[in-house]
Amino acid sequence: MASEEDLKKLIEDKLKGYKFVAVSNREPYIHKVSGDKIKFFQPASGVVTALDPVLQACHGLWVAHGSGDADRKVVDDKSRIQVPPNDPQYTLKRVWLTKAEETGYYYGFANEALWPLCHIVYTKPKFSESDWNYYKLVNERFAKAILEEIGDQETLLFIQDYHFMLLPKLIKDANPKAKIALFWHIPWPNPEVFRICPWKKELLEGLLGADLLGFHLRYHVDNFLETINHNLEAKVDKVASSVTYKGMETLVRPYPISIDFEKIAKEAASKATQDDIKKVKEDLGITCELIGVGTDRIDYTKGIIEKFTAIDRFLEKYPEYQGRFVYIQIGSLSRIHLDTYKKLNDDINSLVERINWKYSSDHWSPIILIRKYFTPQELLAIYRMANICLVTSLHDGMNLVAKEFIAACSKDKSMLVLSQFAGAARELTDAVTFNPYNPEECADAIRTALTMPAEEREQRVERMKAVVKENNIYNWAAKIIQALLRLS
Ligand code: UDP
Ligand code: G6P
Repeated sequence: MASEEDLKKLIEDKLKGYKFVAVSNREPYIHKVSGDKIKFFQPASGVVTALDPVLQACHGLWVAHGSGDADRKVVDDKSRIQVPPNDPQYTLKRVWLTKAEETGYYYGFANEALWPLCHIVYTKPKFSESDWNYYKLVNERFAKAILEEIGDQETLLFIQDYHFMLLPKLIKDANPKAKIALFWHIPWPNPEVFRICPWKKELLEGLLGADLLGFHLRYHVDNFLETINHNLEAKVDKVASSVTYKGMETLVRPYPISIDFEKIAKEAASKATQDDIKKVKEDLGITCELIGVGTDRIDYTKGIIEKFTAIDRFLEKYPEYQGRFVYIQIGSLSRIHLDTYKKLNDDINSLVERINWKYSSDHWSPIILIRKYFTPQELLAIYRMANICLVTSLHDGMNLVAKEFIAACSKDKSMLVLSQFAGAARELTDAVTFNPYNPEECADAIRTALTMPAEEREQRVERMKAVVKENNIYNWAAKIIQALLRLS
């Protein structure tokens, strides 16, 4: 296990002479106009949750798309700002995109082609030549912004996710001294699935500009190595878990991502969170003895429709819970300019309305849907007051909400009910797991969690807390940085 202090020490001792630069599409702090003021917030994104504590420990540079309507108003002449804005620890450099670029690269190629390609949930990817051209253009734009900062200096460059598959090669060609890692935050599919992508060869060649590629699971690593075997004339060494292509070796490794366990556990157990719980219960009018919660971006991979269908089945099959159990769903809007996301949002509204109408009495409705963003602090009260947290992802790289719940929950009353198709299910083996495609199984999993004998539940939760505490976010970052530093 590595703590925040261990990571800081590693950086002080070993990173001397190197710049530490992280890159992602989503920025960690967004500035928005609010009346005559400018406010900032952190977006709902696993990448942001995971990377922000790492950057705060490293005091490095984070390059990301400036997407807030007040973002330009607060930066210096190099588009930089010190963040967190109320306690500066590192530099955020914003890259600006036009509406057309954002539409083609982000909404189009990243989220209508690559996202559904890698999440096997039966949403067909859309491939458009114009989106692909924007994707290439924006990867080049980011390369330019990064090179402006690093020049030909020795740098550890830590690229995030599917938005930047071409970036490793672009940077490596321009600055061979840069040590480059790319972490893939979503699943990597098998070669049968990946082969339909018209630009697969260029994308894979782009990725192989990295010295190190990280995935959440060994299973994704194996899928990636197989994909290379099927598509490129490269040497794949399964024992060493590496690929050699055109004379350059790329290590491919599993690093399950995590959270700042200590911080969440401490804040969740605080008096301030207890006060928040009282307030949330009053505001929402909750008097039920049993509370279920869930927090998701409204995304078709999260199985939100399947979740409500299962809650319907649960109340039908076990009517003794009617009036006793309430489910609170926090749903933050996501990628709302895309039709699939708009339609999902409408479908969720109709389904919740139908289920609430079916069961509600004068004093009780089974589902409270709050369609707004909650700050990480506000979420702690939601997690801490719950008896169960229900994570229904149809396919998910990791799912940090599951780990946050385990860190925050009270061991005297809580249990995690977790889809077997979320990466987190590989580590959190003491959760009650189920197949989200089967409403019957999910309904039974909810009941199992609610009726589990206290002693068994406590032991399981303690074991899961120990797992997340051990493999926390500092451990994850330290392993990746150490692997990069070992490369000559
Ligand atoms: N989140 C948040 N407020 C919200 C909804 C989500 O802060 O209203 C956070 C959540 O706590 C988690 C992250 O957004 O840290 C989502 O990460 P996850 O890996 O669960 O899923 P993703 O949305 O990245 O696919
Ligand atoms: C997933 C992706 C992240 C992304 C997040 C939120 O976790 O892996 O890269 O930031 O979803 O999605 P958004 O499109 O709003 O950034």
